[in-house]
Amino acid sequence: MMTSAEIRKKFLDFFASKEHQIVPSAPIVVKNDPTLLFTNAGMNQFKDYFLGNKKAASPRIADTQKCLRVSGKHNDLEEVGVDTYHHTMFEMLGNWSFGNYFKSEAIAWSWELLTEVYKLDKDRLYVTIFEGDDKEGIPKDEEAFLEWKKVIPEDRILLGNKKDNFWEMGDTGPCGPCTEIHVDCRTAEERKAVDGKTLVNNDHPQVIEIWNNVFIQFNRLKDGSLESLPAKHVDTGMGFERLVRVIQGKQSNYDTDVFTGTITAVEKISGKKYDYSDSKEAIAFRVLADHIRAISFTIADGQLPSNTGAGYVIRRILRRAVRYYYSYLDYKQPLLYQLVPVIAQQFETVFPELYQQLDFVSKVVKEEEDAFLRTLDKGLKRIDDIIHAASDKTIQGKAAFELFDTYGFPLDLTRLIATENDLTVDEKGFEAEMQQQKDRSRAATAVDTEDWITLKETTNNGFVGYHALETNTIVTRYRKVKAKGKEAYQLVLENTPFYAESGGQTGDQGILDFSGELIPVIDTKKENNLIIHFCEQLPAKIDVAVVAKVDPARRQSTAIHHSATHLLHAALRQVLGNHVAQKGSLVNDTQLRFDFSHFAKVTDEEISQIEKIVNQKIRENIPVVIKEMAKDDAVQLGAMALFGEKYGDVVRVVIIDPAYSIELCGGTHVGATGELGTFKIKSESAVAAGVRRIEALSGATAEAYINEQLQQLSSVREALKNPKEIIKAVENLFAENSDLKKKVESLEAKQIQVLKQELLSKAESIGNVTFIGAVTELSSADALKKLCFDLKNDLTTYLVVLAANTDGKANVAVMVSENLITEKGLEAPKIIKEHIAGLIKGGGGGQKTLATAGGQDASNLVQVVDKVKALLL
Ligand code: ALA
Repeated sequence: MMTSAEIRKKFLDFFASKEHQIVPSAPIVVKNDPTLLFTNAGMNQFKDYFLGNKKAASPRIADTQKCLRVSGKHNDLEEVGVDTYHHTMFEMLGNWSFGNYFKSEAIAWSWELLTEVYKLDKDRLYVTIFEGDDKEGIPKDEEAFLEWKKVIPEDRILLGNKKDNFWEMGDTGPCGPCTEIHVDCRTAEERKAVDGKTLVNNDHPQVIEIWNNVFIQFNRLKDGSLESLPAKHVDTGMGFERLVRVIQGKQSNYDTDVFTGTITAVEKISGKKYDYSDSKEAIAFRVLADHIRAISFTIADGQLPSNTGAGYVIRRILRRAVRYYYSYLDYKQPLLYQLVPVIAQQFETVFPELYQQLDFVSKVVKEEEDAFLRTLDKGLKRIDDIIHAASDKTIQGKAAFELFDTYGFPLDLTRLIATENDLTVDEKGFEAEMQQQKDRSRAATAVDTEDWITLKETTNNGFVGYHALETNTIVTRYRKVKAKGKEAYQLVLENTPFYAESGGQTGDQGILDFSGELIPVIDTKKENNLIIHFCEQLPAKIDVAVVAKVDPARRQSTAIHHSATHLLHAALRQVLGNHVAQKGSLVNDTQLRFDFSHFAKVTDEEISQIEKIVNQKIRENIPVVIKEMAKDDAVQLGAMALFGEKYGDVVRVVIIDPAYSIELCGGTHVGATGELGTFKIKSESAVAAGVRRIEALSGATAEAYINEQLQQLSSVREALKNPKEIIKAVENLFAENSDLKKKVESLEAKQIQVLKQELLSKAESIGNVTFIGAVTELSSADALKKLCFDLKNDLTTYLVVLAANTDGKANVAVMVSENLITEKGLEAPKIIKEHIAGLIKGGGGGQKTLATAGGQDASNLVQVVDKVKALLL
């Protein structure tokens, strides 16, 4: 039997033999594309090639791509584990033609690979082609039909509608008709009884699609219309896990060697046995085997679980998995993190990024499990109550929101538990609650983006800003966006010196000079490969020559912080160890922020060591050498690449002394380290499990910061009357202060004794109650309380009110005997609230028998005493 590794290799070898370049998987977490959180198809990383924004490095490419379909247009989460062939993360084997071969080769090769290399039984295969769609104005795919007829009997070529045979990446973007290959894995008897043809595209677990060949010819625009693309392309996707199952002759994807390693590990950890059934326990096994892959690889690609966006998708998947092992494998401690090593080892050569960060990923997963397990039990009890109380078989939106907000139950987890109990969730109600919360915390941030208006078709969107800060160019396209009720514009230039935010470095600001009309650029960002200039207005005439000018001072200060980041990164690895890997970075003109994997607090000593190294490198005035080279050569050189970053074949390498720092980086840098002047770390803190954050400054901002600190110190010195040794002076001050405090306390204790006697002798009897009221000279609420306690020993039925003026502020204590509470309803906190708070402009509280209050106004203390006394009259 072919192993899954062999099956993967045969695919890549086959297309290599057809002159395809084999490329690595792009990261599973998508950056720079506002329409996608995760890679959901092999073609995502090639979107710009299809749209004509960028020229493909090679006209034929093949790979295996890590994909995730848990958000957006393609979402399979509910099915995962319940059935045996849907996954959160899966590998998509794909081959692509960028304006090169088309339907005939694509179809012939897919048939050749399946039937001659993998030797699938031809009689079990069916294909579908697009039947056409009048509304879209697209005819039946006659060409695909004729190609298929060459290799497969006509009655196995089925027509499919737009839903099944017209593939789209999302609401907008490249798309086209597709032809799918389906395989019938049923037994001979079953096949005899029911014609496989009738089961294609009918959700039959044994008659499944394995390969989709898309013929990309259109771009779906925001208004829903289709625009023909300048060239025709092929985009194919074959679900690797399903393919392995078919070739290995298994009933379920989970019975292949892609998953059996994990299932065995879960058996060992939980002490339960996987029984292949539809039981909740078996589903739990499948859920864990599936989810751990999605969780591990997304974290390895740099996305931490969080409360928003891509991070929340990971959190949802993880919590779904936790609930399954908790409820159905009866395992009440963190389990998933124990599976990370199994996955890391299995994929060590295919997707090495996980193995290389094994400790880090395990730690993040464990921490996340711990956090959810802390509230899960309570949440499950709460949902139980909600289910029992539900009168109309619905979990109300408010309840679902409470589960989300208080117990961390993602909506899909609540929905899952509801379904298990034959209930539905009022999702509209939930969304409404969610919206209300969002509205409460911030104004809606939705951005409405219109289609591009193209002034000039060009693939040239060149960045010239490494060497120039000013260039003559033209606008090639622009569009209007609306965010927070404000209109703004996004412009693309033919060439631009503006650096678009990426690699943590913020985008440039500057000016677009349209023949004298100056339009400020407030930010620059990337969308795929387009460099987009954000402007608040358009010029009167947009189709004229424009001079694009970057703000030079801001750019220089940003470059200083970027080069400082590289120096810091290398110093961190020197001082803390090679496990330090970048987990996030922000570089702008005022500071740098660097997040990295490390498991302990960075000590003060380590911080000063790091600063020392960086400042030493600054003083050495090392030239910053930037080279473009083949990625393999860069790696050979020892260049640090970032996990989760997509690199081309040719990379940009920033070298600051080859023996010290070599990084792959697209950012802008100084010419030599001396330009940094100085470097100062401002703070060190934790951001997540295993991730620390350093905030630091360089150049003029560092100088200003240091000066400010010195200024503060000099003010302190002055206040201390310029002592020789300032630390000693402060220590002395503290010691003196604590001595004085002790003395005051002891004097006060004596004073309280004297006062007590005096007050007892002046006590009044009102009815059967002893009333004591006085404005004292005591220094604190504590002292007043102490005096109350002392008095209590000599009294039986009493009401006491003691006040003090402490440096202009009022302090009051009220004490009542228990019997007065029951007999007269005289509760101390109530007396404060109703009779005292107003007079002293403050408030307080405490026990029913003894409460204290403080206030801004100490001028009415005599009235306070009188008012309390009046309660007895
Ligand atoms: N892009 C196509 C798919 O994902 C191949 O199915």
